[in-house]
Amino acid sequence: MNRPIIILPSILCANHGILAEETKKITQAGADYIHIDVMDGSFVPNFGCGTEIIKCVKKHSPLPLDVHLMIQDPARHIRLFRDLGADIISIHPEADVEHTKKSGCDSQCPPLQYEYTANALAEIRALGAIPGIAINPSTTVEAIKDLLPLCGHVLAMTVNPGYGGQAFMPETLDKIETLGALSHQYGFTLCVDGGINKNNIKKLALRGVTSFVVGSALFAQDDYAVGIKQLKESIY
Ligand code: DX5
Ligand code: ZN
Repeated sequence: MNRPIIILPSILCANHGILAEETKKITQAGADYIHIDVMDGSFVPNFGCGTEIIKCVKKHSPLPLDVHLMIQDPARHIRLFRDLGADIISIHPEADVEHTKKSGCDSQCPPLQYEYTANALAEIRALGAIPGIAINPSTTVEAIKDLLPLCGHVLAMTVNPGYGGQAFMPETLDKIETLGALSHQYGFTLCVDGGINKNNIKKLALRGVTSFVVGSALFAQDDYAVGIKQLKESIY
């Protein structure tokens, strides 16, 4: 646990009526990145942050942006998000367009088509951003193992993607431990996303997680700096 702990507030959970102020406040509070959840109402049932939200965040914060694409066929839009200022771009292998075309196929339906995701990750890298994969709770390490050497960032979902404010799924812990060991071997950063708070952050850090997306647990606090400090202190 001697690697630096990175906190990535999920701007989805901020008050979008006062987004500029929220962005400034979370930046001053000591966030390391800002995590942006892009949702298309198709790969996930909900709609999330769109391009105007990203422009607003970029305008009001110098922090690097971590863009989590929960969209079908994400390869179509990589350049757009890079041009908007994304520093990390994570795509879901489950959103592979060929994979999802097969009727009745969901994230548990093997095999994932690697070529699509591998090409998309190469494009992200070529555009100068850090390539990441985000994986659903039901997606096994075995299913995405061949993609790990291509990633600088792995976002292990600890809820089913689509909404902020859901409860952390403890059944993901074993997979996270496996990914924690592989993160040393392959050199990617292991990040978790979904239901993270000061009560569960330590058990994730002990399994090799160094980056933590935090949404509702942080934006519910009156003082975001206190919230970030408490999260970090809960690990040690
Ligand atoms: C869920 C999103 C998360 C979410 C985090 O689909 O990817 O980033 O907004 O919010 P909390 O921490 O409330 O689960
Ligand atoms: Zn996210």
